[in-house]
Amino acid sequence: MAKKILITGISGFIGHHFKDKQSPGRHFFGTYHQNPVQFEDIPCYPLDIRNTEAFIELVEDIQPDTVIHLAALSNPNYCENHPEKCQEINSAATFHLITACQNRGIHFIFASTDLVFDGKMAPYTEKDAANGIMTYGNDKAKTEHLAQLMYPDQVTIARLPLQYGWCQSAPNFLTSWIKDLKSGKTIRAFTDEYRTAAWAGDVVDGLLLLADRKEAGIWHLGGPERQSRYDFAIDLAKALDTDTALVLPVLQKDIEMAAARPADVSMNSEKAFGIGYKPGPAAERLKTILRS
Ligand SMILES: NC(=O)c1ccc[n+]([C@@H]2O[C@H](COP(=O)([O-])OP(=O)(O)OC[C@H]3O[C@@H](n4cnc5c(N)ncnc54)[C@H](OP(=O)(O)O)[C@@H]3O)[C@@H](O)[C@H]2O)c1
Repeated sequence: MAKKILITGISGFIGHHFKDKQSPGRHFFGTYHQNPVQFEDIPCYPLDIRNTEAFIELVEDIQPDTVIHLAALSNPNYCENHPEKCQEINSAATFHLITACQNRGIHFIFASTDLVFDGKMAPYTEKDAANGIMTYGNDKAKTEHLAQLMYPDQVTIARLPLQYGWCQSAPNFLTSWIKDLKSGKTIRAFTDEYRTAAWAGDVVDGLLLLADRKEAGIWHLGGPERQSRYDFAIDLAKALDTDTALVLPVLQKDIEMAAARPADVSMNSEKAFGIGYKPGPAAERLKTILRS
């Protein structure tokens, strides 16, 4: 029988990358909040995750095997300036969804982040202690911790890396970089911020692998290489066949942002690689994205 997977926040950047991943063995259902979406073959429903009753109605109706919980306030600067809202949506609402799933025996995957780390001891494995330096990362870490205590057997913590991809209706940093480089404008990229970025399509495959296997515990779904944002931007310029001199090196520490940024939150994702998670390198994936 096909597995039913309910994806909260399918209208967001990562959520859009589920649209080509449905198969006879996997039926998707999605939720949106302020940005209604329509995907062929994926029923999507409006939901404010703060409304637990509405979520319960939805899961009673769909009876999913797994909930992949993406819905969140995902902008660290916004969360830094609105800590109460961040706590309400990213933590409190999540706990209510977990309780609803626990009462019905539904597997729950929580989308966490590499920003739960302080950036001083990379590369991080699943065994390293979370110690974020910003509201967004700290809130995710706190939610991870309680989620595991609440529902140890069927909660999966998927720590996601910085992701790139092409999505018209949910633009991200790549969208504006491509536009600028194509029109011969310079872009500025940090030389002092390191991540293990991955293509969102690969990360979605990783999430589906965890859903299929109902793997509990913490899982890192980082990309295959540690790169600075600057190195990544150079890969992009090369993939676009534009002049790499358009990429200007800048220091993140010289740019003022509401949320403090850790210098290096590269993740070691060997555990996930060991069960078949296979994210591709940026130079290769960027060429594929630009061709599509
Ligand atoms: N993108 C990354 O590089 C990255 C890296 C690490 C972790 N993550 C995590 O992965 C998840 C998805 O990220 P993303 O980049 O796809 O985020 P995104 O593009 O900002 O999308 C956020 C999603 O959450 C929904 N949402 C926000 N508030 C809601 C509420 N009160 N009730 C119901 N839905 C609500 C939004 O719905 P509407 O748009 O319809 O309002 C949207 O679908 C987040 O948990 C994020 O923290 C992302």
